[in-house]
Amino acid sequence: MMFEASPVHFFERAPSQTELIDRFARKLTYLRISVTDRCNMRCDYCRPSADAYQAEPRSHILQFEEIERIVEVAASLGVSKVRITGGEPLVRRDLPKLIEKIASIDDITDLAMTSNATYLAKHAQELKNAGLNRINISLDTLNPLRFQKLTGGELAPVLAGIQATKNAGFVPIKLNTVLMKGINDDEVADLIDFASDIGATIRFIELMPMKQGLDWEKHYISIDDVLAQENVQARVDIALMQTGNTAARYLPLKSGKGDVGFIMPMSERFCEGCNRLRLTADGGLRSCLPADDQLNLRDLMRNGGSDEDIRSTFLRSALIKPEVGIYNFDGDTEKRSMIHIGG
Ligand code: 5AD
Ligand code: SF4
Repeated sequence: MMFEASPVHFFERAPSQTELIDRFARKLTYLRISVTDRCNMRCDYCRPSADAYQAEPRSHILQFEEIERIVEVAASLGVSKVRITGGEPLVRRDLPKLIEKIASIDDITDLAMTSNATYLAKHAQELKNAGLNRINISLDTLNPLRFQKLTGGELAPVLAGIQATKNAGFVPIKLNTVLMKGINDDEVADLIDFASDIGATIRFIELMPMKQGLDWEKHYISIDDVLAQENVQARVDIALMQTGNTAARYLPLKSGKGDVGFIMPMSERFCEGCNRLRLTADGGLRSCLPADDQLNLRDLMRNGGSDEDIRSTFLRSALIKPEVGIYNFDGDTEKRSMIHIGG
């Protein structure tokens, strides 16, 4: 009898795979790139306490050419959205040059950055000119003393940076607030008003248990508990909460002046709709934030790996992406901090 090739089998083995599709049929089109594990601040939820934190030697960090090469390969596999993160991306010298290169890659249609805004007063316009489309800014408190205590930095340059971002014509401006019980959960209404006054969209994020200088159990507060606050209910109508499995859910402000967003990695997983991959500053390709297994693109490239090798590493990363991310609550010392992985 003649051998009959199964068409399904043949299809699965076709070498010309051009998309990153994981085992759960999620299409991965969004790459978050940490360009540095260094930061001018030291937010307690992001990095381990000062003495426990060791930045990678500079030689371990990807060079811009290496990042560009990775993005080009990713784009050939269907990645169309890139976000630059850190640490603080702007502590990396000449960042606008990297932005310009990535913005010039045809298939990258959305290029965003997350920043603590300290250096945006100086660089916002330059970043806009380089082709950056959007900026998200971390803002956890409007109280200068609290700000200092939580971040080790100054609030005033951050507020100036937000203004400069607006002046440079970035729209929308998104502000991100990590909610911490006993630290800033009494400021939710004030932050909503501040954002609405300056025409920005604020998103409140549930604290995740990463390796960090903050006791998660003590400071975690759910979005539900925040929405129960009277002064928050005075501003948003909870019944109007969007459904769906995007990372952020939005609620319209009762004043009619914009929306407020909620990101609930703890109380309501959005893994089902996840389209993300992450590249760490030292060249690790990670398909899930809390899952610690990552593939080493830096060593692959520095040992002479080809673009084809990079492609197959992306495909492999997609295949090991877990269905849901599992956060580890046991204080596992191997666990990495956000400043290491990229916020
Ligand atoms: N929990 C939630 N979000 C975090 N970020 C960093 N660490 C945490 C954490 N433990 C996010 C925040 C911050 C950005 C830099 O990274 O959104 O604004
Ligand atoms: Fe720096 Fe952002 Fe981490 Fe704060 S959260 S230490 S600003 S990277």
